[in-house]
Amino acid sequence: MKKRKVIIDCDPGYDDAIALILALLNDKLDIKAINATAGNQTVDKTYKNLIRICNYLNKNVRIGKGVVKPLFSELSDASHVHGKTGLDGVNIPNDIEMPKLETSIDVMKNIIETSTEKITIIAIGPLTNIALFIINYPDLLNQIDEIIIMGGSSFIGNRTPSAEFNIHADAEAARIVFESGVPVIMAGLDVTEKSLIYESEFDEIAKLGKNGMFAAEILRNYNKFYLTLEEKFNGVPVHDICAVGYAIDSSIFEGKEYHVDIECEGKYTYGRTVVDFKNRLKKEKNVKVLFEVDRDKLVKMLIDEIKSENGEVYNA
Ligand code: BDR
Ligand code: CA
Repeated sequence: MKKRKVIIDCDPGYDDAIALILALLNDKLDIKAINATAGNQTVDKTYKNLIRICNYLNKNVRIGKGVVKPLFSELSDASHVHGKTGLDGVNIPNDIEMPKLETSIDVMKNIIETSTEKITIIAIGPLTNIALFIINYPDLLNQIDEIIIMGGSSFIGNRTPSAEFNIHADAEAARIVFESGVPVIMAGLDVTEKSLIYESEFDEIAKLGKNGMFAAEILRNYNKFYLTLEEKFNGVPVHDICAVGYAIDSSIFEGKEYHVDIECEGKYTYGRTVVDFKNRLKKEKNVKVLFEVDRDKLVKMLIDEIKSENGEVYNA
């Protein structure tokens, strides 16, 4: 079976970590590199977390370090969700050997330029690294088949009333990506808030050996934030897993193509993904917006991959 060649850009972060577990354990993706971006935490921390996760899962992947801040603003992180380390409470080794430092933009250029096949980008953090690549290497864009993002929402936000966190973190970068001409798949809150792993499933996952214990510990720590909310989820929306899940099996999602603009000026609407549902602007459709997911199949996909690489008991 031919594997899909991907580069992942992420900011781990609890739900990024679960998405990485799915990406690294499955055999349908050929992961050419994983880059860290500033987002849930500073890029120093997300980069280190990314290396910790790959080490823990025993995966030798090329890793790049992204830029330290959004294009035109300062980083406003999500430590209220992911803690001061980005993975608070997750007990995997911290004392690790760092790889040779490569910048995310060099990593992307090198892989995309030399690949004989088109590359899929999976972006599950703010889009700063991807936008910088687009600005710097416009001639390489026809070598990218899709950019699958976790970001945005066709209705309300989670960072502000209008905007989702990843887009709000760097709306100017998101605008560059959405206007790049490369097909964008938007796995936004419409679908990611339906991608719940229920509290009742945490224990089942914890029983799946070393990697299951690891995943369960991530989910339990992530849940601490959701337990503080008025809105009850009875579990955690594992936002970032949708973008990886779509790359593995798009048939479990439903979506539709629209023209989507990014609001970069509005006082109350900065970072909003404005979906032109009724084609008022008569602009070309640039984004496939995902609206539905078969949650059970998505969670089963994760559980099956964890089961398939069952290791010794997690050292919590
Ligand atoms: C997004 O924001 C981040 O906190 C998560 O990792 C996810 O990528 C959800 O809005
Ligand atoms: Ca993320």
